[in-house]
Amino acid sequence: MKKYLIGNWKMNKTLQEATEFIKYLLSQLEVIKKDIDSSSFNLMIAPSFVHLFPINELIDKDRFIQLVAQNCHHETQGAFTGEVSATMLADVGVQCVIIGHSERRVYQKETNDVLASKVKKVLAAGMYALLCCGESMEQRNAGEHKAAVHQQLKEGLIDLTPFEVQKLLIAYEPVWAIGTGQVASLENVIEMHDFIRKILSDQHDILSDQYDRLGEQVPILYGGSCNPQNAGAIFGCSNVNGGLIGGAALQADHFMEIITALLEA
Ligand code: PGA
Repeated sequence: MKKYLIGNWKMNKTLQEATEFIKYLLSQLEVIKKDIDSSSFNLMIAPSFVHLFPINELIDKDRFIQLVAQNCHHETQGAFTGEVSATMLADVGVQCVIIGHSERRVYQKETNDVLASKVKKVLAAGMYALLCCGESMEQRNAGEHKAAVHQQLKEGLIDLTPFEVQKLLIAYEPVWAIGTGQVASLENVIEMHDFIRKILSDQHDILSDQYDRLGEQVPILYGGSCNPQNAGAIFGCSNVNGGLIGGAALQADHFMEIITALLEA
């Protein structure tokens, strides 16, 4: 399956820092690009809203790096001061939107039904939707981690057509591993990714000539304290099709090491 790597910058970097990072990455990629099959690897960066347009200009030439937004609003347009719609994002070159990151679920109290609307809006605007899921430490300690993730996927991916499922990505990010340095064990990663694959297959596999086993083809990315030291082992796990990287995506040389780890996995 195709591999995906997304650097999620969250609320970090000035425009100058973002520009320098992208220029460095482009120069490094120039060296290794000839050895990479671009049809089997998607490299993406998620800057803040205000940097999407200028970064799109920088990467516009060959689109080896794709542009990702960290969020969008769940309505199409209207009187929602301070919000950004999916159509606006597609319009400035965004190809994928992160939906339901745990920081938004916690701080902005985003619920599964609002997230389901966002997923629909992103797909309707012709972009890829990356839905994040993952349990809290309390849920894991109570043995509810699978039930929690199942509910997020059942309610967040409601009413998707087979056509829409083809533009869906999932990130499994245990909340307790995000930004904490406490990475999930490989057993946890394998257990949860296999479980998510089964849910996706149960929900979205359609056997027909046109749509063949769709749920099995949805990429599942791991996120949560992934770094150059542990990336290779994580990317080697079954049903891990790439990574959603936060802290380690802020430094271009670290991010390059993670790119190499994924390509070699
Ligand atoms: P982290 O963040 O790599 O800093 O843990 C991952 C994420 O929030 O997507």
